[in-house]
Amino acid sequence: MKIGLYPGSFDPITFGHLDIIERSARLFDKLYIGVLNNNAKHPMFTVEERAALIKEVTKHIPNVEVSFFSGLLAEYVDVIGADAIIRGLRAVTDFEYEIQIAQMNHELNSRVDTIYLTTSTEYAYLSSSIVKEIAMYHGEVTKFVPEAVAFKLKEKANKR
Ligand code: COA
Repeated sequence: MKIGLYPGSFDPITFGHLDIIERSARLFDKLYIGVLNNNAKHPMFTVEERAALIKEVTKHIPNVEVSFFSGLLAEYVDVIGADAIIRGLRAVTDFEYEIQIAQMNHELNSRVDTIYLTTSTEYAYLSSSIVKEIAMYHGEVTKFVPEAVAFKLKEKANKR
């Protein structure tokens, strides 16, 4: 059984992330979404909120499981027995950062390789921070995130 791990902050999940999840779920028998629990990043959504949203918007994909991790990704890979890490590449600017962490993860755990999927062009400009900013100014975000996520973003904006 081939197991993939798609790690990230997912603060919050966007259509760009979902595109990578749907496509990589077809490549593995099981795909774990590893939600990074790192409060140093000051996320808008708690790790439980982020995981609940991912569960909600991936419920149509049977081989996806949502999990949390903190600490080193290279160690978490062994905890769940993943065969590969999946990451999405949006543009050349992602490449420099991504190659650095892929090489470092391989150095820390030689069993692990990182596989990249190029983000579909319609999502190449998307980022969670930009979506949050638009939502905080009460802008429309339903083009960028699933409905359940847009609803939670609206709730956060209204609380401010
Ligand atoms: N479509 C749209 N947007 C995408 C995307 C896609 N396919 N892929 C990434 N993004 C965006 C996200 O929206 C996010 O935008 P933001 O910065 O505006 O919020 C950004 O790219 C990156 O977010 P994400 O994919 O959630 O990942 P991350 O960079 O926050 O997480 C980890 C990176 C979890 C892989 C890395 O931090 C890690 O491994 N941490 C664990 C600690 C560790 O092992 N450190 C040593 C590493 S060598």
